[in-house]
Amino acid sequence: MKASWNPLRSPDQSLGAALALAVVVAFATSAARAEDAGVFRRLGPLSGLNGKTIKPAPPADGVAVVVFYSSECPISNAYSPTLNQLVDAFPAPRTRWFGVCVDPDLSEADVAAHARDFELKLEVVLDRRGAVARKLGATMTPEAFVIDGRGTIRYHGRIDDQFAARGVRNAAGATENELKDALSAVLGGKPVKTEFVKPVGCPIPEALEIETPTYSKDVALLLQNNCQECHRRGQVGPFALETYEQARKRAADLASVVEDRLMPPWKAVPNVGPRFQHDRSLSERDVRTIVAWAEAGAPEGDPADLPPARAFPIDWTMEGGPDLIIDTGADFEIPASGDDVYRCFVVPTNCHEPLAQPVP
Ligand code: HEC
Repeated sequence: MKASWNPLRSPDQSLGAALALAVVVAFATSAARAEDAGVFRRLGPLSGLNGKTIKPAPPADGVAVVVFYSSECPISNAYSPTLNQLVDAFPAPRTRWFGVCVDPDLSEADVAAHARDFELKLEVVLDRRGAVARKLGATMTPEAFVIDGRGTIRYHGRIDDQFAARGVRNAAGATENELKDALSAVLGGKPVKTEFVKPVGCPIPEALEIETPTYSKDVALLLQNNCQECHRRGQVGPFALETYEQARKRAADLASVVEDRLMPPWKAVPNVGPRFQHDRSLSERDVRTIVAWAEAGAPEGDPADLPPARAFPIDWTMEGGPDLIIDTGADFEIPASGDDVYRCFVVPTNCHEPLAQPVP
């Protein structure tokens, strides 16, 4: 698909606006990075049901429990009641519970139906491509991960010892409850006794094979349409994203900033009120394309697939240029270093008509 380029996406090219934007972006970047610490930063936002984006970090004194499960693994299914009891015993908001479904060939509707049938109290996360499992190093279903508020994995492995081996239940029921003990310890500010106990269950199935995106076929166009406005020579972005080499060498960083929605800069909270005109945010699909490309080692693909280079206007980017140009009368020098400068200019417009229609 060839996206058409809308010149109205870049509403302003004046130096003042560019500097103000750079300042806002700088603040936004440092604040968001501090709170997504440790494993949560590596995980990025997770995909839930109905297109929901989930940020799994718990409160600073809380804990996130991530349980990998498969609807086709009998032991995994058999643990549903145990997990539900644990959710009741360690409730939100201090404990956040996620069930990561690793079945590669199940539709989203099937995953939702299975969660309903088993009355799962965990928030469902979809992982058909196995990215979440790879990032945490999960190998089995069920396998639980206890991650504290700082983003450190404090325990992972089996939930308890109900099963001695696949298909073999312990006659005495569960006598060791590693997940429960780990949760009590972390929430009580105590060390966890064991960091890992081998889970009993089914190996995580091979991830869904999807065609790996390449720079030439998929990523170059996305960067053109969403990043080059600022990330090209002479613009506000700190580096250019105009060639394969420029994108390849920082592929992991590109994936991380688009997953965290730090870039393109767009502060409006999604899904609140009507969508803004000229909304810069990337679609979930575009984010996944960039992430999948980076995870696959940033392949170049066939340069014959590259879109033609995008031509940028050298002057005003607004269609037809500005309606009115107001001169401040004197140059204003911005020092190369020091505090941010906020300055209001009072300038005569010499307009005798209202500049905008009053809002009725
Ligand atoms: C409207 C302008 C604009 C757009 C569009 C934009 N960026 Fe940026 N980007 C910036 C600015 C300005 C900075 C420097 C921020 C700072 O100094 O904190 C930046 C910084 C970055 C950084 C470095 C972040 C860091 O904290 O080190 C990355 C990576 C990045 N951009 C990637 C992208 C990608 C990928 C896109 C497109 C999907 C994109 N940007 C779109 C303006 C933009």
